[in-house]
Amino acid sequence: MSKRLGVGFIGSGFITKFHIQSWLAVRDADILGVWSPNFENASGAAGLARSLGVGEARAYRSITEMVADPAIDALWICGPNHRRVENLEEIVAALESGKGRLVGIACEKPLARNVAEAKRCVALIKRAGVLHAYLEDQLFTPPLMKGRALAWSRGASISGRPYLARAAEEHSGPHMPWFWQGAQQGGGVLNDMMCHSVEVVRYLLSDPTKPRNSIRPVKVTAQIHSLKWSRPEYVRQLKETMGPEVDYAKRPSEDFARATIEYVDETGRPLIGEVTTSWSFVGAGLRLSTELLGPEYSFSYNSLNTGGQLFLSRRVVGRAGEDLVEKQNAEQGLMPVVGNEAAEYGYEAENRHFVRCFLDGTQPELNFDDGLEVVELLMTAYMSAEQERTLEFRPPGLDTFVPAVAKGTWTPRGVANI
Ligand SMILES: NC(=O)c1ccc[n+]([C@@H]2O[C@H](COP(=O)([O-])OP(=O)(O)OC[C@H]3O[C@@H](n4cnc5c(N)ncnc54)[C@H](O)[C@@H]3O)[C@@H](O)[C@H]2O)c1
Repeated sequence: MSKRLGVGFIGSGFITKFHIQSWLAVRDADILGVWSPNFENASGAAGLARSLGVGEARAYRSITEMVADPAIDALWICGPNHRRVENLEEIVAALESGKGRLVGIACEKPLARNVAEAKRCVALIKRAGVLHAYLEDQLFTPPLMKGRALAWSRGASISGRPYLARAAEEHSGPHMPWFWQGAQQGGGVLNDMMCHSVEVVRYLLSDPTKPRNSIRPVKVTAQIHSLKWSRPEYVRQLKETMGPEVDYAKRPSEDFARATIEYVDETGRPLIGEVTTSWSFVGAGLRLSTELLGPEYSFSYNSLNTGGQLFLSRRVVGRAGEDLVEKQNAEQGLMPVVGNEAAEYGYEAENRHFVRCFLDGTQPELNFDDGLEVVELLMTAYMSAEQERTLEFRPPGLDTFVPAVAKGTWTPRGVANI
């Protein structure tokens, strides 16, 4: 293994561009390739990497061609959820036929759309025999990393372990049509964003000196609803902005989800994780909020409580943009300024960490097996919401379960009467 890691990206959309931006803070690795079905888009992302000086990236004509290039040592899978399995199948076929070699593969959240697909991803990665990483950026959010370390080293060491964690992720809705389509994305906001919150509460509740599975999920209770986007005026708005195939009068996805995950610690004592997500929050932009409660201490974080704020008077009527904060909703008044979003949301520390693991030949602790367990928790949450009851983890039938939202058969409560 050379001293630098050559990285290729699959997908050239929103998250790939965030990763490329974050690479300014990553050492000993270069972005050397991008593949996505549209060669021009792949070339655009490669050009961004070159312009930022984070690697002499070029666009490839296929995944196989990128794997075959000896300059590429690792892949970051950043395509849409419904292409995950086929992307991995092509990578593994290229490796097994001896066309190329890789050290590691990192995959964006969620690992897959349901448990059957997630298990297929795990089986494929094990067949490939490479190091693997599950890209959950929020565990690398600087205030969470430091807050967790301090809560445990100061609070828990003297007064006892934390027992309750809350995590919420909310914004006003995704940027591309496929996220809104249950069949493609795998569900609605629960599948899209609760994957983050589920892993955040587990991270905060678990002892940093012990493995991730030192606490164990035992029960899940969840609800899902369509609070905003199946209202007639918003059904119309979605069709106008996302295209006619996104029809929430016929095939809605949930825009609100909440779950309580009951964990037990090594001694069997209960720990509670409360997670909430929505695509129906209109504030300045993306809001991540977190709390950790212990016997004599508490920690809290809100990504919109920024140190910097910009005030723009009513006379400033500028174009709509996303230059102040991700999923920005306004260009006037008092707006939060997130200094460095790639750092604040965890991408910088995440990519530094996984690059280091791959260069050292160390299997990352956060990997495809954890991605699978997150999918299992999400699917249990959908099952609980559909059955309107608490379920023991893992419930029977989980391996073949597909949410009604993904099947296009979900009728949100109250919507049939509109
Ligand atoms: N960690 C996070 O906070 C975060 C944020 C956004 C997205 N994501 C995840 O990243 C992934 C991509 O999301 P995005 O927001 O970049 O979506 P996007 O729609 O902006 O970009 C998707 C990209 O995939 C490409 N693509 C199309 N067909 C493909 C195929 N068959 N194989 C591979 N790529 C293909 C598209 O051309 C596009 O470049 C999703 O799995 C999403 O859940 C994670």
